[in-house]
Amino acid sequence: MDKRIVSVQSNAVEVFAPAKINLFLAVTGRRNDGFHDLCTVMSKINLGDHLNLSRTTSVSDVVLHCSGNLTLENNRNLAFLAAEKWLKYSGQSWGVKIDLDKTIPPRSGLGGGSSDAVSVLLGMNELSEKKLSREVLLGLASELGSDCPAFLDAGPCLAQGRGEQISLLGEVAREKLRKKRVFLFRPDIGLSTPEIFADFSRSNSFSDNSWANERVEAWQSGSLNSEQFLHNDLESAVFEKHRYFIPLFEEITAKFGLVPRMSGSGSCCFALLPENFNEMSELEERVRVAWGSGAWVKSTELFL
Ligand code: C5P
Repeated sequence: MDKRIVSVQSNAVEVFAPAKINLFLAVTGRRNDGFHDLCTVMSKINLGDHLNLSRTTSVSDVVLHCSGNLTLENNRNLAFLAAEKWLKYSGQSWGVKIDLDKTIPPRSGLGGGSSDAVSVLLGMNELSEKKLSREVLLGLASELGSDCPAFLDAGPCLAQGRGEQISLLGEVAREKLRKKRVFLFRPDIGLSTPEIFADFSRSNSFSDNSWANERVEAWQSGSLNSEQFLHNDLESAVFEKHRYFIPLFEEITAKFGLVPRMSGSGSCCFALLPENFNEMSELEERVRVAWGSGAWVKSTELFL
């Protein structure tokens, strides 16, 4: 069973929806459908939302509760849309009540909404006697959002195209990530993914697709270590408008020898921590001094 399935009862299931970080994100071109071509390596992390799904007898009825964050309790939430899609596609005559316990900060580049949506698809499958195939789930996931297919499997993956072409990383790459802890830090502001892509696109500073693939290959084969591999093209679009990122990044590198990166379209950033890192409270303090008491900080591990 998928390790994100926490518990299953006859009519209820609990699912863990891990966040992701983009270890590598190259935007390699603008597409005709309004999206961009990507070459990105993502790992899930051990920070995530919890969803409890209960099967109901109200045919095709989806109810979403998110008591910790009522602004997310609406029918545009990807978790709600995922349940509707699953029921519509399967044609099964039951409904579902979803309790979403939110931990992943929204508008952070951590894929929280996408992970919630895919957790609903996986949970609905668990609740059903007639499961949808992986291929069908992949189709539903890519209709829900570009990031969603990357959450169909729990492990780290390479995503290409709009984000829907997924290959799971092999054991060598997983082994490199195995012992990594992650420090997450986010300013007290959320960012809009479409806006960041549009700003980046205007700069015309796309990465070369062969370069991106060579970097991924070099990391997988061991000629680049994980810190050398970290990259995010979208940082330039964010840092140009939000001038407070670069000074903190420089400070974190100078004082702690870490390599900070932004995840996805931001605003959350991360640094991989060496096993023996023991300056966590100083690091947290630096972030709070630079970005104020509203800054969010967390340390966790990669979810492999
Ligand atoms: O697919 P999703 O709805 O999550 O994407 C949100 C927005 O991010 C898109 O409307 C688009 O502006 C931008 N995007 C993009 N290229 C991608 C993924 C997202 O331009 N590959």
